[in-house]
Amino acid sequence: MKAMERSILRRFIVLEGVDGAGTTTQLTRIDEALAAAGVPHWKTAEPTQRPEGRLIRSILGGEIGASPGTVAHLFAADRNEHLYGSLGIIERLGRGEVVVCDRYIFSSLAYQGVSCGKELPAKLNSGFPLPELLIFFDVEPSLSMGRIGQRGKREIYEELPIQERVREAYGEALAAFEGGPMRIVRVDANLPLEEVNRAVLAAVGGALGLGLGGMGA
Ligand code: TYD
Repeated sequence: MKAMERSILRRFIVLEGVDGAGTTTQLTRIDEALAAAGVPHWKTAEPTQRPEGRLIRSILGGEIGASPGTVAHLFAADRNEHLYGSLGIIERLGRGEVVVCDRYIFSSLAYQGVSCGKELPAKLNSGFPLPELLIFFDVEPSLSMGRIGQRGKREIYEELPIQERVREAYGEALAAFEGGPMRIVRVDANLPLEEVNRAVLAAVGGALGLGLGGMGA
């Protein structure tokens, strides 16, 4: 299925970026802003906390070995369950909740694009619906790797040369969606956290037709 023809899930918002780009911090900020505005919502992430996601985390942590193709399939399986499983994304959206997700198909197109070539992740993810809004956190990998360095244990993709290739792969993957029905907002994630936060809340507020965080967005 071509990028332009894919269906869009209204009120589904996705955050993407290389490791250490700050998506998890901003997910918490969005969660707080939506709660303060009284908007029913669900904050979630991939890999998930479900059994499929936990298996992926063991591989990322280096406890279990798996070939890159297997990892690509596991991310797609985790995503399928996250979308269509009980209390998943589709069910929550159907109840009228806003769903905000840290990482989605674009992570697979970028990371697995680097680890196993573009073709397999493109195929495995071609049938999944798109979010209404994608916020891409663009950051220099040298800066984001510095942030990760402060966290302790590293996962398998958390090396500077890999992160640089992942950033490039994100650029290529996102270009294929330009001009389509999904709104893409690029945020300069090299900036201080509060500035990033203002841009993020403005984007989320804009998509939902709300003013969030007292920023008059
Ligand atoms: P991450 O958001 O960094 O989780 P945490 O902050 O809890 O460690 O995600 C873990 C890693 O998984 C990250 O390096 C990106 C990678 N990933 C993929 O390679 N493909 C995918 O489809 C997804 C969702 C994540």
